[in-house]
Amino acid sequence: MSNIPVLTIDGPSGSGKGTIAQLIAKKLGWHYLDSGAIYRVLAQAAIKHNIDLSDEAKLSEIAQRLDLVFSLDNDALTVLLEGEDVSTLIRSEQAGNAASKVASLPLVRAALLERQRDFRQQPGLVTDGRDMGTVVFQDAEYKVFLTASAEVRAERRYKQLKEKGIESNLSALIEEISERDERDSQRAVAPLRPADDALQLDSTAMGIETVFERVSALCADV
Ligand code: C5P
Repeated sequence: MSNIPVLTIDGPSGSGKGTIAQLIAKKLGWHYLDSGAIYRVLAQAAIKHNIDLSDEAKLSEIAQRLDLVFSLDNDALTVLLEGEDVSTLIRSEQAGNAASKVASLPLVRAALLERQRDFRQQPGLVTDGRDMGTVVFQDAEYKVFLTASAEVRAERRYKQLKEKGIESNLSALIEEISERDERDSQRAVAPLRPADDALQLDSTAMGIETVFERVSALCADV
């Protein structure tokens, strides 16, 4: 058990968890971990080194020595893989899908556990993902599970990708997001589900400000 406080924000793709996690981390002055980016970078490394996305042994091996650097400047997360800036590359829906494939492999998840826990540094950590509250930071003091309808999540994703200069197609996005949700929720290890002690928020009809207020209220004693 660590005495460093953690706020976990889990939920499906496009629920707004990344935006909220970054805003709260900034407000509290805590560190921020985008755990999905780790799986996205791993999938990218596999593609770069011609490793099959289902080769569990090889993938867990590269996961252990993944040369990955995160830096958060001016509200933008920069991600380096082997020194190369992959921040935009890893954000496409195809990269998300590839990430979800490697993330379903138990040995890969095990190999990445410690790397994620190392982010727990003073004065605190805000982390977003799928299994932050259920597996990686099970003892976290504050837990949120954020969701929204698949249509609303696809629309948000569409806007987000557009802002990043990535072209996409809304109906294809709805399909890809549903496929990814299905894989993430049905996998045997660390499936997407709310922790029993998580505050559950449905943001389908809730603005970002309201979600931010509700999560801030949860951490009011910090
Ligand atoms: O959150 P993001 O969309 O970036 O995550 C990409 C993929 O990585 C997810 O679809 C999921 O399969 C996987 N993931 C995971 N566990 C986490 C974070 C992400 O399995 N904690």
